[in-house]
Amino acid sequence: MSLPVAAARPLHVLALGGDGIGPEVTAEALRILRTAIARFALPVTIDEASFGLATWQSRGTLLPPETDAAIERADAILFGAINSLDRAGIAPEERLRGSLLTLRQRLGLFVNLRPIRTEVPLAEVAPYKARTLKGVDMVFIRELSGGVYYGEPRGIEVMPYGQRRGVNTHVYTEDQIVRATRFAFALARGRRGRITSVDKANVMEAGALWRQVVTALHHDEFRDITLDHMLADTCAVMLSRDPARFDVVLTDNLFGDLLSHGAGALAGSLGMLPSASLAPPAPDGRRRALYEPVHGAAPDIAGKGVANPLGAILSVALLLRWSAGAEAAARAIEAAVSAALVAGARSADIALPGEAVLGTMAMGDAVLRQLG
Ligand code: IPM
Ligand code: MG
Repeated sequence: MSLPVAAARPLHVLALGGDGIGPEVTAEALRILRTAIARFALPVTIDEASFGLATWQSRGTLLPPETDAAIERADAILFGAINSLDRAGIAPEERLRGSLLTLRQRLGLFVNLRPIRTEVPLAEVAPYKARTLKGVDMVFIRELSGGVYYGEPRGIEVMPYGQRRGVNTHVYTEDQIVRATRFAFALARGRRGRITSVDKANVMEAGALWRQVVTALHHDEFRDITLDHMLADTCAVMLSRDPARFDVVLTDNLFGDLLSHGAGALAGSLGMLPSASLAPPAPDGRRRALYEPVHGAAPDIAGKGVANPLGAILSVALLLRWSAGAEAAARAIEAAVSAALVAGARSADIALPGEAVLGTMAMGDAVLRQLG
């Protein structure tokens, strides 16, 4: 399902390191990207821009004008991380302007892919028995444009007698469900041909609609794919009891966030997980996208050079696959990460007690050595 290499003009990549450990892991990801571009002669240009808390501290804005313009130009953004909790002192409008949710909306990103595999050398690190981890290879398709993340009304309001009430709205239109579902089915065709669609149809109307729409689309267009429906709470259990049964997991914005993080333990550490967020292709064939590790800003270890860059590096592989159509380069990066792990490279989050630990840059070096 990857796109053919766009020969007409180069792919513009914009790196936004952002907050916390974002800049550190993005620097390693960029080293890998530059190496892949050189080795595979890829028509890709790279820009870097400042974004986030550090920019706010030095310039009074989370998203300065030149970053704004660079985002407009970019085909693919290589994103580090955002720390939304440490923004309390920033005016609400500026916070909203510089939020990841606004960026996703602006770029029209509608699905978030989160592949989860257990690399064999990390089976001991993951908090599961080796037999449970055998054959784990799934991808979450998280709907990214709707649900409780964007639903209106929302806010904190004061009720009579002064008690406050927080309100959020979980809402999905058929169109939103259809486009994510169609994407997931098409992806399943190139994999093991199985989809698990996850909802809470037993308590939520939006979940009941979700199930109806997925069922209808399966019947009309994708009968060659095996479809299961699963309640989100059951899915949470099955992800630890029998994770190898999952191939493509299709779910909404909030369940996708929660369940993919939970499933991250199967990979040994959240630090291992990459993600790709994609917009629909535009009429001119351009498909905007954002690639980021799933781990987030991790402010407790920021600036120490100890973060695991593999989630960011594997996000570069997704970028090359989905935005550059450079499947061979994507595979080479994934293989280099696997080989580095086989050779014993471990950052702190994936090391067993007593194992030698590499910092962020040294981990990048270990992957670069395998990439040749
Ligand atoms: C994620 C993150 C984001 C989300 C936050 C930073 C808004 O947790 O992508 O998993 O909840 O979507
Ligand atoms: Mg999350």
